Amino acid sequence: METVVSGIRSTGNLHLGNYYGAIQNFVKMQHEYNCFFFIADLHSLTTHPTPDNLHSNVKSVLVEYLAAGIDPDKATIYVQSDVPEVAELYLYLNMNAYLGELERSTSFKDKVRAHPDNVNAGLLTYPVLMAADILIHRATKVPVGKDQEQHLEMARTFGNRFNRLYNHEYFPEPYAFNFSANLVKIPGLDGKGKMGKSEGEGNAIFLSDTPEAIRKKVMRAVTDSGPTTENQQKPDEIQNLFDLMRVVSTPDTIAHFDNLYNTMQIRYGDLKKQLAEDMIIATAPIRERINDIAGDAAYLSKVARHGAEKSRESASKTIREVREIIGFRNF
Ligand code: TYM
Repeated sequence: METVVSGIRSTGNLHLGNYYGAIQNFVKMQHEYNCFFFIADLHSLTTHPTPDNLHSNVKSVLVEYLAAGIDPDKATIYVQSDVPEVAELYLYLNMNAYLGELERSTSFKDKVRAHPDNVNAGLLTYPVLMAADILIHRATKVPVGKDQEQHLEMARTFGNRFNRLYNHEYFPEPYAFNFSANLVKIPGLDGKGKMGKSEGEGNAIFLSDTPEAIRKKVMRAVTDSGPTTENQQKPDEIQNLFDLMRVVSTPDTIAHFDNLYNTMQIRYGDLKKQLAEDMIIATAPIRERINDIAGDAAYLSKVARHGAEKSRESASKTIREVREIIGFRNF
């Protein structure tokens, strides 16, 4: 059976981009593959969280994974820092990761632009840690959104380079995966790029948002002053709203508003109301489970401990073999 690995950084609550880009696939894949889904708390250290924030963010991702339907009896759910073998593999892979290629990574360049005062080495080698996450279980499929595609390419590069260096076909090539034909990019509500936590207040709809919060954010989404000719191409901010509808609304609803747009009769207020209600319906079952699960400390602790154990079993086997391949020998 093929092995699947994916993770989400613990920097706060999960949003619809995380859900439709990644988690929805996790939930489906757990029935068909040997799955490892983790909470990337080591990755979150690049932005220096306080100890309290670190733990509460890890907890909220764990709760939301479970609330979204990842079943700890089917998939292995674990916290990245509970598996020190990941950090060890990261160290080995770092020896064969080159400054030039790391500096060329789009996400590194974006981070440097956004936070020029915090360009730490962890940020530079972020894709190496991500490769270690995947290669530690020798996974071949990685359910992620479109923004992670370049990181997957780097993971293949590092794995292949290791294999070549030691002349050993050890790591298989991991590929980004989505059940639909293409990787997904869910837009935000600001009329510009993708939905994301760090893209500004009101840009993201969180799985834990109340119906009122969802309505408020959607009603404030950026729009234009309306179409001026029939069948005209939609500007980005309007296309984004239709793209969001595509994930939460029925085909009939989309066709209805598409038709109103094309005949210049659209009222954006109506479209937004419908979009908000469909988002509320889509997230309701998850939202309802979040509170129940968050209050069950014993269950969370059991899931995390069980996941750490299963993940370490797989990871320590890889590390034993990697050490052997590299040439570490016992006296
Ligand atoms: P992160 O935490 O930024 O995002 C987690 C997952 O959500 C997806 N995603 C989106 N998909 C579509 N549209 C969006 N607007 C959107 N926003 C986020 C991301 O593509 C991702 O799948 N480096 C990773 C975490 C990670 C990881 C790994 C993933 C660490 N190690 C190993 C896979 C395998 C990250 O920061 O994702």
